[in-house]
Amino acid sequence: MCGIFGAVAAKPVADLLVEGLNRLEYRGYDSAGIVTLEDGELKRVCAVGKVDALRRRISTGGPLGQIGIAHTRWATHGAPSEHNSHPHIAPGVAVVHNGIVENHTELRSALKTQGCTFTSETDTEVIPWMISRSIAAGAAPARAMQEISERIEGSYAIGVLTQQDPDVIHARRAGSPLVAAFGDSGGFIASDVAALAGMAKEAVFLEDGDRAEIARDRVTIHDSTGRIAHRRIVRVDESFETLDRGGFAHFMLKEINEQPTVAAAVGARYAPSDAFDEIMVDFRRLDRVKLIACGSSYYACLVARRWLAEVAGLEADVELASEYRYAPVIAHTGNEVAIFLSQSGETADTLACLDKAKSLRIATIGVVNQMMSTLGREADYALPLLAGTEVGVASTKAFLAQLLVMARLVAHIGAMRGHRAAAERFREGLDRVPGWIAATLHNEAAIISVAEHFLHAKSAVFVARGGLYPLALEGALKLKEISYIHAEGFAAGELKHGPIALIDHTTPVVALAPSGELFSKVASNVREIAARGGRITVLGDRRAILSLSDVASTALTIPSCDDLIQPIVAAIPLQLLSYHVAVARGSDVDRPRNLAKSVTVE
Ligand code: AGP
Repeated sequence: MCGIFGAVAAKPVADLLVEGLNRLEYRGYDSAGIVTLEDGELKRVCAVGKVDALRRRISTGGPLGQIGIAHTRWATHGAPSEHNSHPHIAPGVAVVHNGIVENHTELRSALKTQGCTFTSETDTEVIPWMISRSIAAGAAPARAMQEISERIEGSYAIGVLTQQDPDVIHARRAGSPLVAAFGDSGGFIASDVAALAGMAKEAVFLEDGDRAEIARDRVTIHDSTGRIAHRRIVRVDESFETLDRGGFAHFMLKEINEQPTVAAAVGARYAPSDAFDEIMVDFRRLDRVKLIACGSSYYACLVARRWLAEVAGLEADVELASEYRYAPVIAHTGNEVAIFLSQSGETADTLACLDKAKSLRIATIGVVNQMMSTLGREADYALPLLAGTEVGVASTKAFLAQLLVMARLVAHIGAMRGHRAAAERFREGLDRVPGWIAATLHNEAAIISVAEHFLHAKSAVFVARGGLYPLALEGALKLKEISYIHAEGFAAGELKHGPIALIDHTTPVVALAPSGELFSKVASNVREIAARGGRITVLGDRRAILSLSDVASTALTIPSCDDLIQPIVAAIPLQLLSYHVAVARGSDVDRPRNLAKSVTVE
């Protein structure tokens, strides 16, 4: 998943290109580069690492071209390096690419036999060569763009500069998001409409198969049949948050602390009885629900599955999007709904499942933070997370919002299906969540001391049962993705079936064991771990922590609350624990290595 940007203006565009990349950096930050066309010459500047490295490279006399394309990279083929950075150049052509050319090996071999030379290990580099050779054979750039689309397999969005068309950026969308715009400042392409704030007032989302030509004062779009297409114009949200950390050391910590406000916003939006009226699905007649997502969003689905069973008496299948997209299709009753959870709304695997569900004529609901995203625009119904922009790659407030929006939806479905008492009890607990989160945040000092026990661990274990089991998985993900310590979440009852072999005196173990229906079962598992030397941290309310004080050396405290609500509140100490371990280990908390905020490749 990468970010592509392009600009054509009546002034040098280098600074505009870097600003656009800065806003797209969440999509990948292994390396960045620009190409501008200046007096017929393609001038390329690249830098390994984050966009700031490129900005520094340009600040000492950048290129002066008034048309250019730019790219921030998350490496798929070839290590992060200058020679693997985009844009890639062939004679007279420069290309930036987001996606994967699945058949790049065959194409590269064929091009090599035609005398093409390659300087990178990327799949992308075949694209400028194909365009260059097509133009050399007499095709106009627009025709060359059409020809390559017939040869490339895979999903992609590309921006192309050619010496033949010095005033036009050529672009094409085939599976990866791309917007085009023009305004007073010029013409633009971008992977995300948010990158255009302050540069253009209106934009259009290209659709799959669209080819666009962007000049300073116009955008022309041709659809996959070659006909002129008119796409829906959207206003660019000028309120692109000039994101700052608000006095916090990292965006992640700021976003963790925004969670009481997010919880209150979700409650205000979804507590009213008519909050879900626009969803034309008869929940009373539903046989099953499919919950589909990736990563933390998948763990939120696992929590929601248990709520659907307990509060609404409804079976749900939870699917990892990367698996479900290729899973065999089993005939369905027609009384199903597919719910997709995604912070970005651009996760390629999740979107592929959206297409699959729509092809099966299953009603689709997107629960998404970026409402202008593909998921927000293409699901039959979209429910906003209201979490605000989440900059930290490790999801915190968006994950919490997913839980809360799903909880409100489940309460609504439960009430619709006659489980009114259970729904009402659930809602009463949800109404108290903002206060419980705020109270949990006050325990940060104690959590910092717990974090010290993890700093030198080679591996950590998280265990839980019931509705908290998905939070053991999420806690392990949070720790590994920002501190780079290996961590695994297990169902506590599963430990004795093998994983307990991992436990010795060097293994920190977080046991999610608040008071509740399954406390005694988890407590037994905690004692089994203690008997093997595990260094135990108990996450629970005071009563539970006291009960296990003889075997647990440290604790993460949450308020005493209903079993159904515990998965929501438990997320907070797990986020803070991972954050403080990562900070102590010197990780780049907001931009952890190898990751990106939006995974737009499969
Ligand atoms: C969460 O901390 C991770 N950054 C990652 O697992 C994320 O949840 C996953 O990539 C799904 O992203 P999405 O919610 O934007 O679809």
